Amino acid sequence: MFWMKMFYSFLSVILLFHYSCGEVSQKTFPDGFQFGVATAAYQIEGAWNEDGKSENIWDYATHVNPKYIADESNGDVAADSYHKYKEDIELIKNLGANFYRISISWTRLIPDAVEGSKLNEKGVAYYNNLIDELIANGIEPYVTIFHWDTPQSLEIHGGWLNETIIDNYIYYARQVFNLYGDRVKKWFTFNEPKQICDQGYETAEKAPFMRLHGVGLYQCYHNVVRAHGKIYRIYEKEFKPTQKGEIGITADCMFPEPKTDSISDKEAAETYIEFNYGWYLNPIILGNYPPIMIEKVDKHSKEEGRTTSRLPKFTEEEIEMIKGTFDFLGVNHYTTVLATFGDPESFENPSQKRDCGVEISRDPSWKPSVASWLYEVPTGFYHLLMWIKEHYNNPRVIISENGWASDSPDIDDVDRVQYTTNYLSALLQAIDDGCNVVGYTHWSLIDNFEWAFGYTNRFGLVYVDFNDPNRTRIPRTSYRFYQKVISSRRLTSN
Ligand SMILES: *[C@@H]1O[C@H](CO)[C@@H](O)[C@H](O)[C@H]1NC(C)=O
Ligand SMILES: *[C@@H]1O[C@H](CO)[C@@H](O)[C@H](O)[C@H]1NC(C)=O
Repeated sequence: MFWMKMFYSFLSVILLFHYSCGEVSQKTFPDGFQFGVATAAYQIEGAWNEDGKSENIWDYATHVNPKYIADESNGDVAADSYHKYKEDIELIKNLGANFYRISISWTRLIPDAVEGSKLNEKGVAYYNNLIDELIANGIEPYVTIFHWDTPQSLEIHGGWLNETIIDNYIYYARQVFNLYGDRVKKWFTFNEPKQICDQGYETAEKAPFMRLHGVGLYQCYHNVVRAHGKIYRIYEKEFKPTQKGEIGITADCMFPEPKTDSISDKEAAETYIEFNYGWYLNPIILGNYPPIMIEKVDKHSKEEGRTTSRLPKFTEEEIEMIKGTFDFLGVNHYTTVLATFGDPESFENPSQKRDCGVEISRDPSWKPSVASWLYEVPTGFYHLLMWIKEHYNNPRVIISENGWASDSPDIDDVDRVQYTTNYLSALLQAIDDGCNVVGYTHWSLIDNFEWAFGYTNRFGLVYVDFNDPNRTRIPRTSYRFYQKVISSRRLTSN
C-alpha cells in the first residue's frame, strides 16, 4: 500500500500544480473533436403503450407506485418525441451538433423481450425513421443499446439478477446491429451500470426500486459486464468486419476529492473511486474487479459467516473474454464529492457502502444546483480525466454526458451557461495535459423525465412545456451558447 499512497500524494501535488479553476480557457477544440447532445428513450419518447410497445420496469413502477417519483409523474407522454422526433432533429441541426446520442427501447423493438421472439415492425420503423432523419440532416447517430428500461416481463424473473437475461440481451443487441448497424457506427452497450445495479437493487433510487443489502448489486453487475463482454465479442467477430463501427460502454463517476490533505482521506478517495468506478471498468480495461474491492467484500462476507463472497468471481475464461472489450470509453460526469473514511457502524450491514467504508460530503463553497446531488466543481472533472489517463493507459474517451439541473422554465439559464463554460474549460485543460478526449455530449437536448425526480429537475438546452399537450419546445440561452461554442470551436468568456 505504501507505494500507492506515495503515488497519490505525488499525483495530487502535480494536479494542483497544473490546474486551478477560474480562468476560462481560450484554447480551441482540437481538429476532429465532436460535439453532441443526448437523450434516452424512456425519458423523452412517451407513447409508452403505442404501436405494440410492451411494458418496461419504469412503466410498471411509475404506474403501480407513483410515489416513487418526486412529482408522481411518469414517462407515459414525456416530451412526446415518439411523435415529435423531427422537431428534435431540427433543433439539433440548428444547434450545429455533430451527433445525437439516443437509446433504443427494448420493449418497443421486441415486446416479448426473450430470445427468439418477434420484432415489432412499428418499433423497427420508428428507429429507422429517426436514424434516417438524422443522417439526412448531417447528424451522426450514436446509439445506447440499453439505457435502464428493462422489460418488465424479464424483471419478473429477477431482471439483471438472473443470468438468463444475458442471452436475452444478446438476442436484442444482435437485432439492433442487424437492423441499424449499416448506418450506426458508434454503439454503447450500457449506460451507467451504477444506476442499473447500485440504484436499482441496493439503494432503491431507480427502478426496480429494490434494497438487497450488499448482495443484489454485485450479482447485477456480474451479469451486466458479462453481457457487455459477450456482445462486444459478437460485434467484433460478426458485424465489425462489414459494418466497421465501434463499440464501448458508458460509466459515470462522481469524482472523489480527499476531504483533507491527510493520507487517510487520500486513501478514502482512492477506495471510493475503485468501488464506484473501478468496479465497472477494471474488468473491461484491466481484467477482473479492483483488488481492494475483492479483498474488502470477501473479508466482510467471511465475517458475516457466508461460505461464498457477496462479490461473484469470474472464471479465467471470463476475465480474458471481458478484458479489452472497448473501442472507446464513454464517460458521464456531472459532479464531485469529498471522501473520508466513515465509522463502520454508521453504514447498514451488509451494504456496498459498508464494504467501501467511505463517507461522502460536499464542500460548502461549491455552487449547488436544484438537484441535491449536483454541485458545480469543474476541477473534479479535470481530475477524473487525469485519473482515467493514469489508471487506464490513456484510453480514447467520449464525454457521453455532462450537464446542469435547473428549475422550470428558466429560459435565461445563465447558471447552465456558466457550468458548461467551466466544465468545457476543464476539459480543454485535460486535453492540453494529454488526455485523449475526442468528443463532448451535453445532457440534454431537451427537458425530459428525470427518473425519480420526475419533471422537477430540468436538464435541457431546450425547455419543454409539459403542461402543453403540444409539448412546445423553447431554446434556452444555453442553447445559443452551445451553438456558438460549436461553430467557433472555442470558449469565449463574455
Ligand atoms: C431465471 O429466469 C428463468 C427464465 O429465464 C426462470 O425460469 C428462472 O426461474 C429464473 N430464476 C430465478 C432464480 O428467478
Ligand atoms: C405545436 O408545435 C408546433 C411546433 O412548435 C407548431 O408548429 C404547432 O402550430 C403547434 N400546435 C399547436 C396546436 O399549438
